[in-house]
Amino acid sequence: MSKKDHGPPHKAPRRPKTKRLEPSAPALRILVASGVNLDLLGQRENDHYGHATLQDMEEQLRAQILTLGTTIDLTFFQTNDETKYLDILIQGWDGAVLNPGAWTHTSLALADRLAAIKLRFVEVHVSKVMAREKVRQHSFIAPLALGCVSGFGIDSYRIGLLGLIAAIRI
Ligand code: DQA
Repeated sequence: MSKKDHGPPHKAPRRPKTKRLEPSAPALRILVASGVNLDLLGQRENDHYGHATLQDMEEQLRAQILTLGTTIDLTFFQTNDETKYLDILIQGWDGAVLNPGAWTHTSLALADRLAAIKLRFVEVHVSKVMAREKVRQHSFIAPLALGCVSGFGIDSYRIGLLGLIAAIRI
């Protein structure tokens, strides 16, 4: 019996062309702002603040965002000048991680500004402020924050960032 001619060798059905991806959503612009004396992190009162520096914190956050499926544009900022701290808040951020240092406990101006611009932010502290002196147990900005993270060393920033991103995504 002759071999039946089945025509040309069987071709696998063509795969539909890969759909072009939608242009990706714009990156979330997030500010990470540290206030007065946080430039001294790593050298100051290690019992409260540990040995890690702001540079270590920045590296940790940059590593963390690589593990997330969201494009995030992080801006790190530190100043000992309260005016500069107030000014950077209004630059159209999608959210912010704020550690204002001592201004947390003193600055009605900071709270007024945050209330006015309706910036979504998480308040973070390296030390466990609620377990420290009474004056540190009051925060002018806490009532406006999405949440507060305190006491985890520089990890407070990373945890705060994750909380902020989760809140923004909802
Ligand atoms: C701080 C706590 C503040 O009380 C203090 O004034 C700081 C640092 C913290 O990160 O633990 O400067 O914000």
